[in-house]
Amino acid sequence: MDSILVSGGGELNGQIPIAGAKNACLTLMPATLLSEEPLTLTNAPRLSDIKTMTELLQSLGAEVTSLQDGQVLAMSSHDINNHTADYDIVRKMRASILVLGPMLARDGHAVVSLPGGCAIGARPVDLHLKALEALGAELELKDGYVHAKAPGGLKGGTVDFPLVSVGATENVLMAATLAKGTTVINNAAREPEIVDLADCLRKMGAQIDGDGTSTITVQGVDRLHGATHPVVTDRIELGTYMLAPAICGGEVELLGGRLNLVGAFCEKLDAAGISVEETDKGLKVARRNGRISAVDVVTEPFPGFPTDLQAQMMALLCTANGTSVLEEKIFENRFMHAPELIRMGAQIDVHGGTATVTGVDRLKGAPVMATDLRASVSLILAGLAAEGETVVSRVYHLDRGYEHVVGKLSGVGAKIERIKGQ
Ligand code: UD1
Repeated sequence: MDSILVSGGGELNGQIPIAGAKNACLTLMPATLLSEEPLTLTNAPRLSDIKTMTELLQSLGAEVTSLQDGQVLAMSSHDINNHTADYDIVRKMRASILVLGPMLARDGHAVVSLPGGCAIGARPVDLHLKALEALGAELELKDGYVHAKAPGGLKGGTVDFPLVSVGATENVLMAATLAKGTTVINNAAREPEIVDLADCLRKMGAQIDGDGTSTITVQGVDRLHGATHPVVTDRIELGTYMLAPAICGGEVELLGGRLNLVGAFCEKLDAAGISVEETDKGLKVARRNGRISAVDVVTEPFPGFPTDLQAQMMALLCTANGTSVLEEKIFENRFMHAPELIRMGAQIDVHGGTATVTGVDRLKGAPVMATDLRASVSLILAGLAAEGETVVSRVYHLDRGYEHVVGKLSGVGAKIERIKGQ
């Protein structure tokens, strides 16, 4: 297994290009199943999760061709000949459940393996299933699989989500585009990835209003057609690399970044003493003079502070002046990076969903282990600021969500290299 060696110390200066959003691409790809005509995505990120979704779609009979070094995905679902999403693929990635709504809407039947647990919490799919039932789907859970049927086709209905779920909103939004009549989705997720999906579906002929607010209305149509769509900028990759100069000092411009993708996050950076400026190419981030200030963070659905940036923010706050409190409200077990940061000299107390971080002058390099995607990049950020060398092992987690991490960070002056495993 590969690992990443980081030597901490210097300032970072220069530019980092930000890729298309992993989480948007993982929901735009299954949208191909809604139409017999081709769907082409541009600005796609080059990530192992995208390969897993490609494999899943191909197993169903879709054609997925990766062009321009993976930045363009040309897809066609003309010949869907298998309606079973197999456990062997689904278990690798929870977003696989997003093929359920589209397959059911288009062909009236689908069998999808339950994704199972995940390191950051239980993460059930009950909300996805209840939402599809509200559209008339008949569901049965058998041998670890969801067997879904809609013999006369899906029918528009009202979906009242008891809590905000990004994935469940995406699944039912896609399904509703081909349901007969009107669907109203209440307490819908408002993430930019939902708006991006709705934009793409509209290009395919769907009638959707209210995306980006908590009530989305969909007027079902008989069929959707082909389209070409650029994937929205990855706000989590953006926020992650905004933290690099914040932690190390220096000034870095994040190409393609936009303030409206990271509003709540920027408010916290500002309070910590980091300046963020919008330029014509993206966002320029610099650390103002002196040690950064402690800030409290509560993770929330968009437009709140994203759970996917909590681990990286914790890496910053480890060397802040004072005590910061981070509350994780989305996933129950998302502080697995804390023990690893403690190995590097951080002072962190975790009680349930709350982590209290008392800033220290300096972190010290250490061997650490990546436990999930965002945790792994937080350890790299911490390593960049630490004295000495940090070796982050199990970096396959990182490959799921960050393309060319070594190239992007060494391009702004970081001392970082990938060490090939046996
Ligand atoms: C998506 C993102 C993930 C991000 C998360 C929250 C993708 C591929 N992943 O995950 O990076 O961290 O949003 O912003 O887009 N829940 C249920 N029942 C369900 C579904 C969810 O109880 O059926 C719970 C979850 O356990 C969690 C909360 O709802 O506590 C929010 O999860 P959700 O928004 O669904 O996250 P994902 O879509 O899986």
